[in-house]
Amino acid sequence: MQRPISTNAAFWMPVGNARDAMVQNDAASRRLIRGTVSRVDRPTSGVTILSVRVDSDTPFSYAPGQYINVLGNDGRFKSYSLARADLLDGCIELHIGRVAGGVFSDEAMRTAKVGDPLSWRGPHGEFAWHSAAGKRAIFVCTGTGFAPVRALLERTLGAAIDTPITLYWGGRKLSDLYFRALMQSWAREHANFRFVPVLSDGMAIEGSSIRRGHVHEVVMEDIQSLNDAMVYACGSPKMVSAARRAFIEQRGLLEQAFFADPFGEIEFAPAPDAAHRECAQVQIDVGGTEYMVGAEGTLLQALKRAGIPIQSVCGGQRACGTCVVEVAAEWRDQIAEPKGEELDLLAFTPDATCSSRLACQIRLDRTMNGFAVRVR
Ligand SMILES: Cc1cc2nc3c(=O)[nH]c(=O)nc-3n(C[C@H](O)[C@H](O)[C@H](O)COP(=O)(O)OP(=O)(O)OC[C@H]3O[C@@H](n4cnc5c(N)ncnc54)[C@H](O)[C@@H]3O)c2cc1C
Ligand code: FES
Repeated sequence: MQRPISTNAAFWMPVGNARDAMVQNDAASRRLIRGTVSRVDRPTSGVTILSVRVDSDTPFSYAPGQYINVLGNDGRFKSYSLARADLLDGCIELHIGRVAGGVFSDEAMRTAKVGDPLSWRGPHGEFAWHSAAGKRAIFVCTGTGFAPVRALLERTLGAAIDTPITLYWGGRKLSDLYFRALMQSWAREHANFRFVPVLSDGMAIEGSSIRRGHVHEVVMEDIQSLNDAMVYACGSPKMVSAARRAFIEQRGLLEQAFFADPFGEIEFAPAPDAAHRECAQVQIDVGGTEYMVGAEGTLLQALKRAGIPIQSVCGGQRACGTCVVEVAAEWRDQIAEPKGEELDLLAFTPDATCSSRLACQIRLDRTMNGFAVRVR
């Protein structure tokens, strides 16, 4: 018997011993949206496009650039970006790139079919269009990182915004750019939109419009200064990290002009030499060992910078629930209570306790000298 790709039953996993009624009530009140697969397309061997009709009893809306957390058959949520600017005939669209051996993107997508139920939470995320007079927009994406880009472009070009926009879309082979014909037609229709396909495999062919190399390196070849640009990067976390660093350090991009929707963990820059740090330092205790870290950003960033192994599959986007830490009892009441999506994720964490928190949701500040946690 084929397994459905997701269960439609209201899903609840018992929370471990002590994250008690507060968690359960809050999690229960957060809605699980339900839908039914209405179309399955496989434009190329590694990509499945699902159209999912939202059930009328769980209405749903979102902004372009946002993603949802889809409930898989294994009881775990996986994040997928919404690929259209709006619901189309009551349907959402997801572009799912195969990760070999992946529970959802590979196993479930092999057998996905019209009529399958799908459940999700969301929308989540703050990846969005930022307009700024006199700035151009550069979109850089790889593979199905195209999904949120398509939603944003659809909304922006549809609103006749005249900002010059260039999309660099990278893949290994031409079929990875599975909507290139659509992008080429948008480039013909909109004078302010340019599409640059980039392939990392194969040789450059003279006269071809297809560029060769890594997608962010092609942007660097084309543009000497990104001082006047807003950059939107989506897809491979490796590409997003490399692009961010190269654009800021070598092309003068302003840090606040880089917007990203990485599909996973991005690299955290190593801590600058202590003598050159401008921010205050605090001492934190991680499982009995003390570390000096900058009193800024999130605990997850501080742990990564200190070289402490901790999982963070979604890169700190409050989407995966893998960055769980246990906060020492004396500090529990001194940091803000978990709420919203953090509570949801903790509710699905096996053996969560009332000390469990997501490291990406704890912000460090100078009052937290001596803060003590244990990485699970
Ligand atoms: C905010 C956000 C938005 C996302 N949007 C999309 C989207 O629109 N389209 C899309 O195709 N994917 C998207 N992803 C990635 C997606 O959530 C899953 O990580 C991916 O589909 C793999 O899930 P799986 O169940 O098949 O793999 P799993 O069974 O969870 O993992 C299988 C193996 O692959 C590794 N792995 C997991 N994820 C990745 C990855 N992304 N790249 C490489 N290796 C991985 C795991 O470490 C494991 O070893 C998004 C991720 C985030 C955080
Ligand atoms: S890193 Fe994913 S929720 Fe914290």
